[in-house]
Amino acid sequence: MLEKIATPADTQDGVQGALIGNIKAHELGASSFRERYGLQYAYMAGSMYRGISSKELVVALGKANLLGCLGAAGMSLEQIRRDLGYIQSNLPSDRMYGANLICHLSRPTIEMDRVELFIEMGVRCIEAAAFMVMTPALVYYRLQGLSKASDGTIQCQNHIIAKVSRPEVAKAFLNPAPMDIVQKLLAQGKITQEQAELSQQIPMSHDICVEADSGGHTDQGVACVLFPAIALIRDEMQQKYPHTGRIHVGLGGGIGAPQAVVSAFMMDADFILTGSINQCTVESGASPEVKDLLANINVQDTDYAPAGDMFEIGARVQVLKKGVFFPARGNKLYNLYKQHDSWFDIPEQTRQQIERSFFHKSFEEVWQEVIEHNERKGQLKNLEEAQSNDKHKMALAFRWYFAYTNRLAINGDLSDKANFQVHTGPALGAFNQWVKGTELASWQNRHVDKIAEKLMCAAAEQLNNQLNSLFKNNHNK
Ligand SMILES: Cc1cc2nc3c(=O)[nH]c(=O)nc-3n(C[C@H](O)[C@H](O)[C@H](O)COP(=O)(O)O)c2cc1C
Repeated sequence: MLEKIATPADTQDGVQGALIGNIKAHELGASSFRERYGLQYAYMAGSMYRGISSKELVVALGKANLLGCLGAAGMSLEQIRRDLGYIQSNLPSDRMYGANLICHLSRPTIEMDRVELFIEMGVRCIEAAAFMVMTPALVYYRLQGLSKASDGTIQCQNHIIAKVSRPEVAKAFLNPAPMDIVQKLLAQGKITQEQAELSQQIPMSHDICVEADSGGHTDQGVACVLFPAIALIRDEMQQKYPHTGRIHVGLGGGIGAPQAVVSAFMMDADFILTGSINQCTVESGASPEVKDLLANINVQDTDYAPAGDMFEIGARVQVLKKGVFFPARGNKLYNLYKQHDSWFDIPEQTRQQIERSFFHKSFEEVWQEVIEHNERKGQLKNLEEAQSNDKHKMALAFRWYFAYTNRLAINGDLSDKANFQVHTGPALGAFNQWVKGTELASWQNRHVDKIAEKLMCAAAEQLNNQLNSLFKNNHNK
């Protein structure tokens, strides 16, 4: 809340009043966002794969009336079902929580199986990430929750919080569902005629989150460049569909210190989203060994490396650099992949070094594991292609390394710490500096709900101080 106080000096200067800050943490951001999700603060914690955003993390946030999302990426359907069951039985039924849905363009059944589970279990919010276009699974989730109330308003039961880092993707989420997909779902009997019709009056998502450079997969966007551009698209869409309900634009990526929270809300973000800072908390599913490494990093201790699942197309993740060799090794493999058409084209000395220090086994042994993995997963096409394409064979072996380094970190296997692949952004470095010398210096004292509260309260205080000093300076002129 801003109090407007007129002073003689102000009116003399032709200024109507000066703003004095008396803002409370729970007033930051859009009240309609807080109301939509029943939250204390306009704050959410983004998903982190394979249960790093654990069921415990989601429950701790939910109990504090904050929004957390289960890190469902990389989990089996059974595991997701078990974790959602845990969340539902440990949270009061009026508390909101979400689950992550990642785009799987080449294997759409993965998305659809998850969405069917979410619908079956009554999950009312998903955090959608890595989408470039709308897919049948996304549309199905959104439309399944549509109905018309007796007063004629459209009820949207299923919320999609869409993380975006490109304007055209924001546009796709802010438009109604593509009609060709709607018609297919209708023909399959997955949605009703009424839902198909209502779908054209609402956006796919009422809440999008601009994601600037972040831990994990990143497009390395700059917050103060991306946010205004995407907020303008929201404004256009809100004008085009004035009766659709408030569309929110949040901001995530790089938020770890109160100043970053202030700048997000001063840019007019309706809510903020954090990620990296939550990995280094008691409730996170990361291994204690990883938390130990992360608790002391600074803002310069991260680097970019190839994203194991899509490294051939140049996709990148932001990872821990301090104390490990993974980013240097991952980048080396990517460069070798670009320069050579086959494993055997790589100079022998380099191959030996990779087998010795990266793989800890021979290329042939790695390849055997790749075969077994792909056979288990039924991905036989991969193997067939590799028989006639040496470059693809090399790519699959390199992917093995990316999966191996990920597993090492998840399991906290210190026997090969140098190869740990730990996703994190520099926001955690900023957080660590902020709490240095306090009890929060130790991750064992960091609880995901408490750090959210601390950040929001410190941001409100900082904002009030700034407004007060602005007022004082202006008044003393
Ligand atoms: C360890 C880690 C794992 C992540 N895994 C996922 C994921 O599975 N799905 C997803 O949508 N985002 C994932 N993210 C991104 C976060 O949800 C969030 O958008 C991002 O971390 C925010 O930026 P920050 O790290 O700068 O705070 C991950 C981030 C980290 C640090």
